[in-house]
Amino acid sequence: MCGIVAYIGNRNCKNILIDGLKRLEYRGYDSAGIAIMVPQDPKRDALGNVTIEVLKEAGKIKELAGQAKESRIDGKCGIGHTRWATHGEPTKINAHPHQDCSGKIAVIHNGIIENFDELRSELKEKGHKFISDTDTEVLPHMLEEYYDGDLLLAMQRLMGRIKGSGAIVAMSVDSPGEIIGARITSPLIVGISRDGNFLASDMPAVLEHTRNFIVINDYETVRLTANKVEIFDNNGKPIERESFRASWSITSAEKSGYEDFMLKEIFEQPYGVKESMRGRLSNGELHFDELGLNSKQIKDIKKVQIIACGTSYHAALIGKQVIERWAKIPVEVDLSSEYRYRDPLVDEGYLFVAITQSGETIDTLAAIREAKSKGAKVMAITNVVGSTVARESDSVIYTHAGPEIGVCATKTFTSQIIIMYLMGLYFGKIRGTLKDADYKKIIDELHVIPNKIQNILNRADELKEVARRTFKHTCFLFLGRVFGLPAALEGALKLKEISYIHAEGYPAGEMKHGPIALTDAKTVVVGIIPDDSVYDKMLSNIQEVKARKASIFSIISEGDKNSGKYSDYLFEIPRTIEELYGILTIIPLQLYSYYIAKNLGKDVDQPRNLAKSVTVE
Ligand code: G6P
Repeated sequence: MCGIVAYIGNRNCKNILIDGLKRLEYRGYDSAGIAIMVPQDPKRDALGNVTIEVLKEAGKIKELAGQAKESRIDGKCGIGHTRWATHGEPTKINAHPHQDCSGKIAVIHNGIIENFDELRSELKEKGHKFISDTDTEVLPHMLEEYYDGDLLLAMQRLMGRIKGSGAIVAMSVDSPGEIIGARITSPLIVGISRDGNFLASDMPAVLEHTRNFIVINDYETVRLTANKVEIFDNNGKPIERESFRASWSITSAEKSGYEDFMLKEIFEQPYGVKESMRGRLSNGELHFDELGLNSKQIKDIKKVQIIACGTSYHAALIGKQVIERWAKIPVEVDLSSEYRYRDPLVDEGYLFVAITQSGETIDTLAAIREAKSKGAKVMAITNVVGSTVARESDSVIYTHAGPEIGVCATKTFTSQIIIMYLMGLYFGKIRGTLKDADYKKIIDELHVIPNKIQNILNRADELKEVARRTFKHTCFLFLGRVFGLPAALEGALKLKEISYIHAEGYPAGEMKHGPIALTDAKTVVVGIIPDDSVYDKMLSNIQEVKARKASIFSIISEGDKNSGKYSDYLFEIPRTIEELYGILTIIPLQLYSYYIAKNLGKDVDQPRNLAKSVTVE
């Protein structure tokens, strides 16, 4: 939530900042701003006699970009921010950067200052004037108060006073050759290049300039000059840290001819799931040493506890079923936001798994800390190398889906499901709970799953047509059972997120206990009815809603001649084994939601009120 980018070097930075913000827009898009250190006389002053010029706009980055294009302001040191409002409405005044009374200091911030009320009153008493409703505005005033010739020291003092979370970046006309960053919980990375150095919330912001990064940890501060990066610990002592080279490329963070990132990422799924299996599944064998568990440890697992939020939670629900079915280990799945507050039990024999595409979700992070404080060893499944969850967990499995920019999780979801399958399979094999023939069959099916996903994508136009015929309905119920249930929940979530239509995902057997009352001619019921062990049950449930005049859209297995009798619209998916329908059935639902949202003219990459990584509670 909120995106930060900063640059200092020998290039003019206005476009670097605007382009960086465009790439970070998935983190927040209700207002944006940049501040640039502008030399009074570019020939004489270089970074000597400078002023800070700020440009801000409410709305999406394109509004700010328009203003920036018109403006002649530019310079070699600047900071930029895209906002997802927490305190104060998304207005121009509340947009970052914020400044102190003198206008000499500019600050951007991602996070929440929980004690801002107290700090603000204190600062007001000292005569500081506030103009916005944000919590962030206390920061430049605090720096103004603490500044005594060294901005880094002022930032370190500030860190000792604030409560909450934040990645903070500041610059001052009195220290014109440097940018200072600090981190408490919210992500902050340094990008290093020959032409200068960067700070950013996430790698895609600066991938076009560098692939060399350093991660800043909690309670650390960083001083950036044009050719130097210095990191300091909690006590202000310098720290040496090696940079790492990111494997993500800039083209993977671009639309490459697709209308939206979401559509591109849906279509990347055959490749994404292959990448998730690469090196782990080859020639009919599964290699999963990265789990960091030996055979005895796997045999001794008493329970698997999975924690996750949003779409990742739905991947966890598939994980639960395959681990229980194949490895005969009981699995409990919790929403991170619930787990952290429910005083959970932790036992030595439990395996903790946290699933998070971003690796930054604050509730998942807090749930991990809660589990660790009770002695748990945590395994993370994430897509982002160097993310906070990755660093705080005892072991990490990367999904390798490539950068996902659309706010809606699509390809990271199917990659998470693949990891769940591999984990269930591996545990089942080692524990001897899976017959060899079944093990082999599952592996064979996993090998061909990318082609089956491709087969569905090749028929996207069929889903476009169903969307065209149904998008005016006002209520959507997604029904499934067993492996169809996580898909139903995810299908409904996707539709809600990007089309703002009321949608519910429900276990089909529970319909009679409430939701069937919603059903009438304005309802579309999406039935997930693959040819599996609950096929007949699903068919009965579909007939019940059909009898109440709902329009029925059924996702069925290729060649199923029966379901058509009760359905208004059908979409066939390739046949697979029961467990793998969990991944195949979601693909048409992603496309269906996408096309409904497009029919309604919605911005699918940046749906209202949502952000890709939720770094505030
Ligand atoms: C946000 C995103 C969702 C995502 C959820 C959990 O709400 O918009 O797409 O599923 O966070 O994120 P995580 O990074 O922990 O998987």
